Amino acid sequence: MINIPKGTKDMLPGDAPKWQYVEKTARDVAEIYGFKEIRTPVFEHTELFSRGVGDTTDIVNKEMYTFLDKGDRSVTLKPEGTAGAVRMFVENRGEFSSLPLKAYYLTPAFRYERPQAGRLREFHQFGLEMFGSDRPVADAEVIIAADTFLKRLGIEGAKLEINSIGCRECRARYHEALKSYFRPHLDEMCELCRERFEKNPLRILDCKNEECKKVAENAPEITDYLCDDCAAHFEGVKSLLRKEGINFTVNPRIVRGLDYYTRTVFEFVSDDIGAQGTVCGGGRYDYLISEIGGGNVPAIGFAAGIERLLLLMGNRGAKFPEGAVPEIYVGATDEKSNEEAFSLVAALRRANIYAEGDLMGRSVKAQLKYADKIGAKYVVILGERELSCGTAMVRCMKESKEESVKISNLEKYIKEARS
Ligand code: HAM
Repeated sequence: MINIPKGTKDMLPGDAPKWQYVEKTARDVAEIYGFKEIRTPVFEHTELFSRGVGDTTDIVNKEMYTFLDKGDRSVTLKPEGTAGAVRMFVENRGEFSSLPLKAYYLTPAFRYERPQAGRLREFHQFGLEMFGSDRPVADAEVIIAADTFLKRLGIEGAKLEINSIGCRECRARYHEALKSYFRPHLDEMCELCRERFEKNPLRILDCKNEECKKVAENAPEITDYLCDDCAAHFEGVKSLLRKEGINFTVNPRIVRGLDYYTRTVFEFVSDDIGAQGTVCGGGRYDYLISEIGGGNVPAIGFAAGIERLLLLMGNRGAKFPEGAVPEIYVGATDEKSNEEAFSLVAALRRANIYAEGDLMGRSVKAQLKYADKIGAKYVVILGERELSCGTAMVRCMKESKEESVKISNLEKYIKEARS
């Protein structure tokens, strides 16, 4: 047997209602906040991610699914949704005359990570991106949309943590402070962090290596280095969140695992799903669009991992809507009646009724058992007698009651039973 690749998961039919519920909630929330759906390719030119996500990140260094296609081009399966959304924005810039552009996506993403609960190699993200506004209201709107989404799913326990990692100016001063701090500890740190020390010392704060984590514990905090504009922006965001009653804590340790962030960064974190506690993360990325060649357009967004949300909801005993069950099962006593049953099922479906019939040649007893198993609300069995007189006994499974109904009236009968 050929097994499923490590770190990937099938969605089984029984899981579908849960996925559809989360996806529908995502779409509903995106809609009321004015975000429109986009779909971008599953693979992009590798350069988009190495430039966009950043070549000092774990994602670009260790986790990308990169390969040469048959034309010898290096392509990569998207490790996240933002870079593709930005490429789409830049490439179609002429179509978006009035900003902000608000886009959302539901997409698979791929990272070659060590799989564990809540961490997969193929996972799915729901994300929002807003292009064009540099104002604190944009940050607040995106954060509140994420909060609304989680609350609608019944995830009240995820804590919002926010931080500001400043702009180029304050970051340069902060990098110097970090370098002075880390320089005496370089020997204790991993090889990648020694590289990061030169290229992007902020990344050291995100290293998973225990030694590096220990050294980083007492590192200077970015909030002490923000320039006046960044500090005012951060105050503006916090004040809007407070005004809207959104609980948050400032965590100066949040730097996020991607290089494109500026100013506001945030994560919703839960204690209920083990080590992979971040269900949703995002932030502002004011330079990314210009780095991809699209001019000076500020942006902000977030993404939530659907598998992690489902895990969290499962652990918290969340109630999911039931999947659809047949409104009626039309069985038959013999081959000829089954042909009539087949036509009746087809007609009921044309009338938008979820109907099922026998496709397996089961005995009447086995058909009744099967109808019960799949949760059919009503069951009718057609035989020679029923077909010749044009009426049949329809059984309501919930109330264990039977009623004689004209076969030509079944559609009306089922539709009336709905209300
Ligand atoms: P991220 O924090 O890398 O941000 O991922 C966002 C979310 O995707 C995480 O909070 C987590 O729920 C989920 N996730 C990430 N990696 C995995 C994995 N290996 N297995 C399962 N779930 C995972 C981004 O991707 C940014 N693009 C978010 C963003 C959008 N920032 C601005 N706009």
